Amino acid sequence: MTGPRMTEEALAEASQVCERIMDAVGRAFVGNRLLLRKVLAASLANGHILFEDYPGLGKTLLAKAFARVIGCGYTRVQFTPDLLPADILGSRVWRQRDGAFDLVKGPVFTNVLLADEVNRAPPKTQSALLEAMEERQVTIDGETHRLALPFLVLATQNPIEQEGTYPLPEAQMDRFMFKLSTGYPGSLEMESEILNRRIAWKQDDPTNELAAAVEPGQFVGLQEVVEQAIYVDPSILEYISRIIRATREHGKVEIGSSPRGGLALLKASRALALIHGRDFVVPDDVKGMAVDALAHRLILRTEVVLEGGQEAEVIEEVVRGISAPTELKDRPHL
Ligand SMILES: Nc1ncnc2c1ncn2[C@@H]1O[C@H](COP(=O)(O)OP(=O)(O)OP(=O)(O)O)[C@@H](O)[C@H]1O
Ligand SMILES: [Mg+2]
Repeated sequence: MTGPRMTEEALAEASQVCERIMDAVGRAFVGNRLLLRKVLAASLANGHILFEDYPGLGKTLLAKAFARVIGCGYTRVQFTPDLLPADILGSRVWRQRDGAFDLVKGPVFTNVLLADEVNRAPPKTQSALLEAMEERQVTIDGETHRLALPFLVLATQNPIEQEGTYPLPEAQMDRFMFKLSTGYPGSLEMESEILNRRIAWKQDDPTNELAAAVEPGQFVGLQEVVEQAIYVDPSILEYISRIIRATREHGKVEIGSSPRGGLALLKASRALALIHGRDFVVPDDVKGMAVDALAHRLILRTEVVLEGGQEAEVIEEVVRGISAPTELKDRPHL
């Protein structure tokens, strides 16, 4: 494949729409651009996101604001210890009048599902999400139903040391494209800005007033571009493969990344390329996404964990240890 796969104008426009989405989210959520870019990249790559951080750091706010801004339908489910699978999926109920069963669809039939405090529900309920997340379909009483497009799960949780929580099973962790943390406000200015906005908002939830920043269907259109029109050179594929394999061979690692981790890194890198207004992936896209796409898939050796070793550090080490391609076949001058 040679030559441009998108016109310059189409690329510039796509990248502007991305900026518009991030600007709009930033009007509710005070945070750095890098975090917003990551949220956007995973969503454009059709990936689910797990936000993990301590209470009160804006996880719910960010997820809600994002769902609003991309102009898609969304539902929110507060996960609690007594939440049942049917509370998420829905169930079939007998209608006396019609003499037949009727499907009452649960909150999973939406575009963006906010699974708030996902680790507060027991494993059975968490795994009801599994089929939906991976296959974008659900089975209710033996009948399979396809979910809408896009279908994104934005889940939030407090770190697992917190009381009264059920850590997500590893199979479920792997189904999230990214695990992100919102973090504390990065500066005194940001801290004050949160307070300032509260004075202007008069209420704690500013997302009700947020309007969509894109036309209907535009977000799905961008997802299609990411999937179909962003060139990935063979040297980039090899680079990603080397990173994935190195996570399995690293001395501190008990279990390395799954191939699904490699796919997540590939998809997110393509999305990041589009956000930057490029129709081809460069090694920096891959580097920029590696920690968020891979760290949550690693299981470190027990002694490493006891010494305070972090998955993110291991991924950084892995990436540092692998030389990036310096030339793309299709774009010889990087
Ligand atoms: N970065 C931020 N920008 C703007 N408002 C913020 C930010 N962080 C927190 N807030 C405000 O603080 C309050 C708590 O935020 P939020 O409910 O989103 O936290 P959370 O991370 O979901 O907490 P929990 O884990 O307890 O559910 C909200 O009123 C929110 O508007
Ligand atoms: Mg919350």
